[in-house]
Amino acid sequence: MPLVDLDRFDFLYANRVRGMKTAATRDLMATLSRPGIISLAGGFPDTRAFGEEAFREISHNVAADAAQALQYGPTAGLEAIKDVIVDVMAAEGTRASQEEVFTTTGAQQGLDLVAKTFLDEGDGILCEGPTYAGALNAFAAYRPRVMHVPMDRAGMIPAAAREALEKARRGGIPVKFFYTVPNFQNPAGVTLVAERRRELLEIAREFDLVVIEDNPYGMLRFEGDPIPTLSALEQEEDGEVDRVVYLGTFSKIFAPGVRLGWVRAQPGILHKINVGKQGADLCSSNLSQMLIASYFENADWRAYVKRLTGIYRERRDAMLDALAEFMPKDVHWTHPKGGLFVWATLPSYLDATAMLPRAIAKNVAYVPGEGFYAGGKGKNCMRLNFSFVEPDKIRRGIELLAEVVRERMELRSDLERGSQRGSKSRKSPRSTGVTSGPDKG
Ligand SMILES: Cc1ncc(COP(=O)(O)O)c(C=O)c1O
Repeated sequence: MPLVDLDRFDFLYANRVRGMKTAATRDLMATLSRPGIISLAGGFPDTRAFGEEAFREISHNVAADAAQALQYGPTAGLEAIKDVIVDVMAAEGTRASQEEVFTTTGAQQGLDLVAKTFLDEGDGILCEGPTYAGALNAFAAYRPRVMHVPMDRAGMIPAAAREALEKARRGGIPVKFFYTVPNFQNPAGVTLVAERRRELLEIAREFDLVVIEDNPYGMLRFEGDPIPTLSALEQEEDGEVDRVVYLGTFSKIFAPGVRLGWVRAQPGILHKINVGKQGADLCSSNLSQMLIASYFENADWRAYVKRLTGIYRERRDAMLDALAEFMPKDVHWTHPKGGLFVWATLPSYLDATAMLPRAIAKNVAYVPGEGFYAGGKGKNCMRLNFSFVEPDKIRRGIELLAEVVRERMELRSDLERGSQRGSKSRKSPRSTGVTSGPDKG
């Protein structure tokens, strides 16, 4: 790969690619496939749970209509998959009709199409802080100003969202949408509580914004009662879905390899998205749509999701137990009630990006927090995935990670002690920068 600085086509590249960077998780992929590494980095569902037999069966069903599986399809998706999407949404308590749903090549494409539809350069968008790195990546091509709204245990803080919107208004920045992953958020594992969903909808009405509800994890709930989607709440309050654009995916309830997701939105927005998709890839794969339709129509997909949820719950517990057992006391983490991720926060002087090579040398990997913010925050944080690795390996991985964190903390204490001794013996003490600056080692 050429060095980016020396790229000889630099003068020809569009402005839009200048701010684009690859997601840290994508960059890590090659390292993570190294034997022996315990990867808590990826966002991988455990596709091993699906099984060869079930796959053979749906492939066999699809082969009966090979000509259609191998053909182009309608941009909005085949009728059969739209019926499945309507059923899946109903299972989550959101009413939708066939005409209101639109198939995409993963929710990731939904994010790109939404950004393509709404964003001009310099427009403002509100995202949780931290937020899904792949969304930042998709949005970056359209050069928006990303405003992160802080979260607490109950999700995005509405008062902070309002403050950001008022500030943007005073600054003359047109804000187009806020983007939320309301359930078991990637990366923080946090869930937006129902009252806040209502409040955020109210704020969106007040400022006349669109709400992008990205919900890949809603069905992967380990405990507690499901919370209505923002789409369902809007339906309940206003009688129809208007400003909420819902993104769904089969990646976490079936498999990411089929690359199939959907958008549910009102007709005007769907029309723009349709035109955008025609320019992007014409249509999503018929083959994938038919595989999914065959499975969802003939098998007990709810039982499969339940089985996955059971597997992930056990792994989540293994991770939380190991964190409690091994991590030094100044490290904090979230307690997700579903999904795939825990978010850990180290003391502010530690830099999780700088620490990663040491962790990989010890055979454990995570994603540093920086990539989940546009603009430099999150350095002392890390995303830990629990869905892909077996419980005993999770435990060992956290043990190794805790050793790395402890080493760093001890190194800093040693440096501090050294600098105190040095400053006592020197006449005019000078700061080493270590006590206040981030850990760069
Ligand atoms: C919040 C969020 N949105 C969208 C996606 C993309 O999903 P898909 O595989 O459907 O493209 C992911 C994938 O991990 C995600 O975590």
